[in-house]
Amino acid sequence: MAEVVFDHVTRIYPGNDKPSVDDLNLDIKDGEFLVLVGPSGCGKSTTLRMLAGLEEVNKGRILIGGKDVTTMQPKDRDIAMVFQNYALYPHMTVADNMGFALKIAGTPKEEIRKRVEKAAEILDLTEYLDRKPKALSGGQRQRVAMGRAIVREPKVFLMDEPLSNLDAKLRVQTRTQIAALQRQLGVTTLYVTHDQTEALTMGDRIAVIKLGILQQVGAPTELYDRPANVFVAGFIGSPSMNLNTHPVVNGKAKIGEDTIDLPTEAVSKLTAEDKGQIVVGFRPEDADLAPADDPNAFSLKVVNVEDLGSDGYIYGNIITDGSAAEASTMMSDQNKLTTVRVNPRALPKVGSVVKIKIDPTKMHLFAPSTELRLN
Ligand SMILES: Nc1ncnc2c1ncn2[C@@H]1O[C@H](COP(=O)(O)OP(=O)(O)O)[C@@H](O)[C@H]1O
Ligand SMILES: [Mg+2]
Repeated sequence: MAEVVFDHVTRIYPGNDKPSVDDLNLDIKDGEFLVLVGPSGCGKSTTLRMLAGLEEVNKGRILIGGKDVTTMQPKDRDIAMVFQNYALYPHMTVADNMGFALKIAGTPKEEIRKRVEKAAEILDLTEYLDRKPKALSGGQRQRVAMGRAIVREPKVFLMDEPLSNLDAKLRVQTRTQIAALQRQLGVTTLYVTHDQTEALTMGDRIAVIKLGILQQVGAPTELYDRPANVFVAGFIGSPSMNLNTHPVVNGKAKIGEDTIDLPTEAVSKLTAEDKGQIVVGFRPEDADLAPADDPNAFSLKVVNVEDLGSDGYIYGNIITDGSAAEASTMMSDQNKLTTVRVNPRALPKVGSVVKIKIDPTKMHLFAPSTELRLN
């Protein structure tokens, strides 16, 4: 087992003018499951591949277990990778697939057999050891790919979107299994995904990256409850946080025709660059319907409602100039609508105007100029 340290690590691919990973500082503790998450192209695979030794580091250092491995060959780093395309050898049995890397490394046959059997037991693959991959389900194949990594008994596991090839239902099952397995084995793990739900459900901690730059690192609840900037606020959580820029008038946020109270401490942190505006964020579950005369609520014209049985959602436009901005129910526009979770047994009618009150303790405030958190 080992701690992993990225120390001011930068990667600029030849021919690119911008770094794909820019001055990354990140510690993965011994035995920790760290999920690196961000949109496609943000530098996740590059980060992982530098740790694996498959990609050159242009600036900075990478340490595994206190040892500088920055220029070390991949095979000497004592890591094992599980890729998105975990192509198994079709002509080999499950056992041979799992033991192949050990065989190449010259591990004695008896030792290989022992490790493969142990891994198969952990992965619930014992009865399939003599089968060929084509006689396995997608989930079983995925577990064989995990098995290949486990038998190597590495210091660090690296996983690059290993669930991408599975259908939605299997992904949910498998992510639970992988998280449980990692905890059982206690091997330091860097897991890469673009899926924030995977990140929230699997990681001890999550590192959010955007355009090669680390945005925030923390436990899932920390990132969910206190996102450090607008990007993390919008990226973590589904349905996503409502985020809008509003004028600040007499210390209050003007939302459409209404005003809502803001904490003075947050407002006092705004600067001239913010031009008298503030970004107000709230999660759909942190607001609710309010009485028509509530002085600290804003008006919403309801464009769509959803009854999911357990939850109800209303989607709407904030009312400006006494009339709702052009209402649209097109799916692509639904993301831009304000979303509020309500009691599914008390859904308002489409077309009606309702008052929405944000839980003041759950409001997320950001400076428009820096996009950084104010409260
Ligand atoms: N071999 C390469 N040469 C040049 N640019 C690359 C190479 N590999 C990746 N990139 C660029 O680096 C950025 C990060 O890529 P990558 O790490 O694969 O992102 P992610 O895994 O988060 O989708 C992207 O803009 C991508 O186009
Ligand atoms: Mg990638």
